[in-house]
Amino acid sequence: MSQETEKYAPIQGGGSLVIAYQVANKNILIVGGGNVAAQRIVSLKIADAVVTIVSPEQGLHPEVKYRIENGEVSWKNRNFQDDDLDTADMVLTALDDHEESLRIGHLCREKRIPVNVADVPPMCDFYFMSQHRDGPLQIAVSTNGQGPKMANMIRVTAAKALPEDMGATIEKMGKLRAKVREWEPEMKNSGKRMTWVTKVCEKWGMKGMGRLNELKTEEQEEAAFKKLREYFMIGAVPSIDSILKSDKKPRITLIGGGPGDPELITVKAKRLLEEADLVISDRLIPSQILDLVQGELRIARKFTGKSDEAQEELMNWCLDGLKQGLHVVRLKIGDPLLFGRGGEEILWFRERGFEPELIAGISSAFSAPMAAMIPVTYRGVSDQVIITTGRGTKGSMPDLPIYGATQTLVVLMAVGRASELRSMLIDRQYPLDVSICWIENSNCPEERIVFGTVDTLAKTVEENDIKAPAVLVVGHSNTVLNTPTNL
Ligand SMILES: C[S@@+](CC[C@H](N)C(=O)[O-])C[C@H]1O[C@@H](n2cnc3c(N)ncnc32)[C@H](O)[C@@H]1O
Repeated sequence: MSQETEKYAPIQGGGSLVIAYQVANKNILIVGGGNVAAQRIVSLKIADAVVTIVSPEQGLHPEVKYRIENGEVSWKNRNFQDDDLDTADMVLTALDDHEESLRIGHLCREKRIPVNVADVPPMCDFYFMSQHRDGPLQIAVSTNGQGPKMANMIRVTAAKALPEDMGATIEKMGKLRAKVREWEPEMKNSGKRMTWVTKVCEKWGMKGMGRLNELKTEEQEEAAFKKLREYFMIGAVPSIDSILKSDKKPRITLIGGGPGDPELITVKAKRLLEEADLVISDRLIPSQILDLVQGELRIARKFTGKSDEAQEELMNWCLDGLKQGLHVVRLKIGDPLLFGRGGEEILWFRERGFEPELIAGISSAFSAPMAAMIPVTYRGVSDQVIITTGRGTKGSMPDLPIYGATQTLVVLMAVGRASELRSMLIDRQYPLDVSICWIENSNCPEERIVFGTVDTLAKTVEENDIKAPAVLVVGHSNTVLNTPTNL
């Protein structure tokens, strides 16, 4: 056996050449106007052929008549004449007169015109195959003339095995192929194009490709193609999920921006700030964090003494964005749920039909003591941490607990209330010499740390001109890691 014989599969003859023949604008003559002619007209017109029927009126099937009246086919109201073949590119005979059918078949062969003589297989240059069509999808089954009914059954079985909306899926993938040609028009790069489209088909599979039908509008399609282009350029294939995500739904995310150091926000917060369409930020968030925003940025305005109005305005900015289908980020200082009206904002959005996502942030309640080297818990010194505020609802003072030697008290928003806090602590039996610490602008370049005692609590604010934002820490843990020189 030669090497070639081993290498190449043997060819088995006896089949037909299976091709999809383009007949658009070709002249096709159907001789006869009965039931078979009616079926052939449909097959030919789907392929945009120019069809002429030759048949006397009395032999016309009602559907053929309808097609003639509807202008879909031309009609010669008479029997066949030999010169009808002069302009024909293809001929189909569908006559009861067997002899005349054969005669026409032979004439066509002489003139080298492809012909199909109904029910006479040897006189057929081509057969009509059992077809399934769904938009651009065409499945044709042939038994090579041996079992037309079986071809029919096989075709139905094959069509049923396909995922739904296969035609629409093919259209979407066709659009993607056209886009790829636009992105990389050079002929010499056809290999790159084909390889990438093949990889997409293989990675997504039939099911994944079918999900392209979830793109309902042109805008959604364009957004998806825009994403796909980026992957095409680097030769990568994304997951179908990441592509469909471009389908925008309104979304609100409450993000904790941390205490102010841009390196102290979470990786997730950073990504969402970069991706959001609209970011509504608290005041006093440092510019290095705001610089991450790539969409529109709005910062809460200052309404002196009217914080409710300011809050309402910024919430309405968020709502307007959500109504436009945007991804809105509400950027808050520290942790979104610690003294920042985060809980109230969640309820407000819920009442309006939007469930916020939450991204934790590092709270100043923990980062500020840490910046001052204060371990808020320490074995034998502090086993409890109380986090409270100097400014309760409608300006009220919080109800501080009775002095506990092993407690660390962390007070936010305390600067303007230093003197009231001193009185209250003394009232709650705090010894005058217990350490206090003010941490102003913790984790920011302007950070200041000032120690004192309960007795000097108000004086340290005045003498050092402490300004908000600052955190006050009261308790013995203040002195665990701090040396007497910095106290
Ligand atoms: C409305 S509360 C918001 C608290 C915020 N949600 C958090 O978890 O840090 C504002 C207070 O937080 C404290 N604060 C926030 N950032 C701070 C910082 N970088 N340094 C010191 N205190 C800060 C101050 O006490 C300020 O008055």
